[in-house]
Amino acid sequence: MAEELVRMAGITKFYGRVKALENVNLTVNRGEVVGLLGDNGAGKSTLIKVLSGAVPATSGDIFIKGRKVEMKGTPDAIANGIETIYQDSALVTQLSIARNLFLGREPLRGPRWLNRLDLEQMEAVASALLKQVGISKAIPASTPIVALSGGERQAVAIARAMHFDSDLIILDEPTNNLGVAETQGVLHFVRTARDSGHSCVFIAHNIHHVFQVVDRIVVMRRGTVVADDIRPGQSSVAEVERVITGMDA
Ligand SMILES: Nc1ncnc2c1ncn2[C@@H]1O[C@H](COP(=O)(O)OP(=O)(O)O)[C@@H](O)[C@H]1O
Ligand SMILES: [Mg+2]
Repeated sequence: MAEELVRMAGITKFYGRVKALENVNLTVNRGEVVGLLGDNGAGKSTLIKVLSGAVPATSGDIFIKGRKVEMKGTPDAIANGIETIYQDSALVTQLSIARNLFLGREPLRGPRWLNRLDLEQMEAVASALLKQVGISKAIPASTPIVALSGGERQAVAIARAMHFDSDLIILDEPTNNLGVAETQGVLHFVRTARDSGHSCVFIAHNIHHVFQVVDRIVVMRRGTVVADDIRPGQSSVAEVERVITGMDA
């Protein structure tokens, strides 16, 4: 039996008079990778922003492990085990890889009132994590994010989600503007995350990429969910494209 991790129920979102979402339901089970597809403006980003506390829903409820939660901000989402990775991931580019991994959750050394960061511990953990997410090049954990490629930045953001054991990792178009090898890296991370028991919501323009890593596809069109149980093994890319454009009727 599938164990429900997240359930969004009847989510409606207005931006002023623009209705971005209308009565959307979305369920993600534990250990499941869900691909969220839809044309530009379909409402994908808005839906995951509601789930990650970045924007408030106008109406509707969110349940995590069956319990109703209020998502008033990103900290609420993180406290509920939800980590979101955007294309320009939420990293501070001037800070090191190690500092970014522990952003807001830094380990301290010595007496608490000294507020002295335990840099050694952060760098040791960071080095181990970088290996785990497949950055094989020897990049010191003290390297600032600015010095990294797009794919390496994604790897750092994903490593952070994995280290803090987020239940759900949301990736909103993480492969845009990445090279071929870096894109393969991101797809590999998604598989690694799933294999270690994490759930993912994966948004990408390239349907072929989505087909490679997801268990189930949800399609949105004009602020509503129009399909929520497409299995990559049982549907073709062309069929899914017809659902996305609305030419399937
Ligand atoms: N901050 C905003 N203010 C006003 N309208 C917005 C805002 N963000 C998104 N929208 C509108 O909401 C709709 C859904 O957008 P979005 O969720 O970004 O779609 P997608 O991610 O599927 O491309 C679009 O019509 C978009 O123009
Ligand atoms: Mg978007």
